[in-house]
Amino acid sequence: MKGIICYFSLTGNTKLACEYIDKKISNVTFEYYDITTDEEPNFSAYDLIGFATYTDFFEPGQLMKTYMQNFNGDGKLAFVFNTYGQMSGNTLFTMAQTAKSSNLKVIEAYSLHVPENYPPLIKNGTTNEEYPRNNDLESFNEFITNLNSKVTQLSNGGTITEKNIKKSIFISVTKKLLSIINMDKMGVKNVHKDQCTGCGICASVCPYDAISMVDGYPKFDESKCESCFACYNMCPTKSIYTPKLDGVGHYNKPHKNLIEKLK
Ligand SMILES: Cc1cc2nc3c(=O)[nH]c(=O)nc-3n(C[C@H](O)[C@H](O)[C@H](O)COP(=O)(O)O)c2cc1C
Repeated sequence: MKGIICYFSLTGNTKLACEYIDKKISNVTFEYYDITTDEEPNFSAYDLIGFATYTDFFEPGQLMKTYMQNFNGDGKLAFVFNTYGQMSGNTLFTMAQTAKSSNLKVIEAYSLHVPENYPPLIKNGTTNEEYPRNNDLESFNEFITNLNSKVTQLSNGGTITEKNIKKSIFISVTKKLLSIINMDKMGVKNVHKDQCTGCGICASVCPYDAISMVDGYPKFDESKCESCFACYNMCPTKSIYTPKLDGVGHYNKPHKNLIEKLK
């Protein structure tokens, strides 16, 4: 069976986990589609479509949400997957619901606990670098085995029921409270001009086109910013700062422990 994984991964944890799924699954060959940069593929060539992203304030990253809302699933088989650092919240629920509304049949879903990449938490020492623990890896492998047996069953003419995921009311309330006290925002961004080399990496990695280079320096359009920290994390000279953070907590690639565990 031919599959494709549509992914939105800012610092590479989710992409790495997708590669692990690909390595471990026996009856599906996957291709990848980075929804932030690649040209959209022709989905009619694939039997199974995966959607993979990171948890962003208990929900899928905004770009993935919008992408899935506008997706024409054509009744195809799908799975949803996310990585998270602390609390996945409603990430899978929202992805599964959105997939269903976009005419996809969600047959499997999984959230993988990995090291935290949210700079304010890293600054406070919450790195969660021990994740995924052995039991997380066991259940991740189980998810892959289940996905594999379901596609095998279906390609042999069998039927399976769609996956049901429950919404957490507690998380919905918590998210609302955090947004009211503005904990979900980076705050106004700025740049240390004496450190900035004008390389433009911040503008090119911003998934929301919220950064333009003006007179050799980044200019931030706060109305477009979704507070994903991509610019902050990826700046090679750590020149971007916010009222919350300056020069600390950067995370620009998967944690070495995660790379080791997903080998
Ligand atoms: C802006 C932002 C918000 C985040 N919010 C959450 C969250 O609500 N819950 C959580 O468990 N992890 C949260 N994280 C951590 C990431 O979901 C996690 O580290 C993930 O593996 C990053 O994936 P990526 O490397 O593919 O971008 C957040 C990270 C960022 C940058």
